[in-house]
Amino acid sequence: QRILVLNGPNLNLLGKRQPEVYGHETLADVETACRAAATGFGLDLGFHQSNREYELIDWIHAARENAAAIVINPGAFTHTSVAILDALNAYDGIVLEVHISNVHKRESFRHHSYVSLRAEGVIAGFGTQGYTLAIARAARLLGVAGA
Ligand code: DQA
Repeated sequence: QRILVLNGPNLNLLGKRQPEVYGHETLADVETACRAAATGFGLDLGFHQSNREYELIDWIHAARENAAAIVINPGAFTHTSVAILDALNAYDGIVLEVHISNVHKRESFRHHSYVSLRAEGVIAGFGTQGYTLAIARAARLLGVAGA
């Protein structure tokens, strides 16, 4: 089975962008950790980042055919994108939402998430560890033995 990890705008700058909020690890470090976690569960992994809303939507559409679960950090699109919510509503697999920072501790405009209307679960404020925790949860929900 395959898991797709999607990252929205500005996450390409992870490690350089507001490290006091998002930490010093880069997105390449996160991808390495996600690959190790997925391999440990015997799962294949797709990992993408885009600053463009339509690219994230196209990957979600493709996931209808090629992924059993999506782990998504939509970045600021979390708080704005009905289009990403609609794409996820057209997807039948498991959806888990990740935020590196604790969005509830921040500005009130970060407290609402369109994606949460679809996600089975949300992780926020666990730093980049949230991604591998979400992969472990996806493995459990997908029935991987020992997950
Ligand atoms: C974020 C939180 C969002 O509010 C913000 O726009 C991001 C990153 C997080 O991972 O904490 O870009 O999704």
